[in-house]
Amino acid sequence: MRILYVVGTRPNFVKTAPVIGALRERDPEGRHAIVHTGQHYDRLMSEVFLEELGVPAPDYMLEVGSGSHAAQTAKTMERLEPVLADERPDLVMVPGDVNSTLAAALTAVKMGIPVAHIESGLRSFDMTMPEEVNRIVADRFSEWLFLHSPEAVTNLEAEGIPGERMHMVGNTMIDTLVALEGRFRAAGAAARLGVEPGSYALVTLHRPALVDGPLLGETVAQLAALAQQRPVVFPVHPRTRKMMEGLEPDAPGLHLIEPLGYLDFLSLLADAGAVLTDSGGIQEETTYLGIPCFTLRDNTERPVTLTSGTNTLLGLDPAAIGRIPGLLTERSEAFRTGAPLQPPPLWDGQAAQRIADVILG
Ligand code: UD1
Repeated sequence: MRILYVVGTRPNFVKTAPVIGALRERDPEGRHAIVHTGQHYDRLMSEVFLEELGVPAPDYMLEVGSGSHAAQTAKTMERLEPVLADERPDLVMVPGDVNSTLAAALTAVKMGIPVAHIESGLRSFDMTMPEEVNRIVADRFSEWLFLHSPEAVTNLEAEGIPGERMHMVGNTMIDTLVALEGRFRAAGAAARLGVEPGSYALVTLHRPALVDGPLLGETVAQLAALAQQRPVVFPVHPRTRKMMEGLEPDAPGLHLIEPLGYLDFLSLLADAGAVLTDSGGIQEETTYLGIPCFTLRDNTERPVTLTSGTNTLLGLDPAAIGRIPGLLTERSEAFRTGAPLQPPPLWDGQAAQRIADVILG
């Protein structure tokens, strides 16, 4: 088979790496071409991830970079089209919900090339999120929809997607976590930062709704207040770093650091006392690891992390950060007395093998 994988951002690499690995192993005679759109381009957001995940060097670098949504999407489509014309793959594989995903799915479908979508069927029902638009388009045009949670079936059925296109395979991001577990457990990132395992809150925030407007200043002030009670470690996404210029408070205990490689990030995540995030993937990783997660958003496209996991929706409200210490106390009591949590079905490290089963028959 001739398969072309299109990736562009940090979470894309994590979701696609095990799928590339499984398909290359099961179909060594096939063509497995990797296209990196260049949506993420900083070394810490891109190369470091690919190296740690053992993904071979991309066959094509489109070097699209940053820009408005239209510019980023259009540039990706324009640069991907000749690659698809040359490669003529049997299928184009796209992960997640970023602009690279949308652009690749649209380009392929218009050239009559079948699309496969990893992490299909998630919906926040919030059309102001760019990712929601991207997911809906990618799902609508994909022939193979790879699902990882039960609500995805309901969401896709409601949009009239035929059942035969849906394949419940599990979570490929968790495949990567399982594969790296020995290495990240030994990485000792907390010790290198001088924070005690179990004591600190790990923070990641990058969504436009939070960081591109007036909520960011109040959020930083709330983090500084939280840091008076426990260390706060915040690897700052480049988008957030840009918007935070002039806002950095002088708060001992608040560690504003550069983005981390994946092994160090997972090491910090696994040893955190609590996590505060607006990321999608981190809601899933904390669910698997059993770490209390607080999501600073009004909604989540991953409700399974609320019902089967450790996630709490705080709302898009920086003041809610002040509730975290109290909520942690309530949670630790509930965990002590409640049944142990199980990760959702098929979040077991084997999702990419199931994708290979479906595609290779
Ligand atoms: C993108 C995805 C988001 C995903 C996130 C993961 C879309 C619409 N958004 O958001 O869904 O959760 O990736 O990280 O696709 N920048 C750099 N260096 C980089 C990348 C970005 O400096 O390597 C800065 C630039 O200032 C850029 C800004 O970050 O303008 C935003 O980058 P962009 O790729 O547009 O979106 P993300 O916020 O990274």
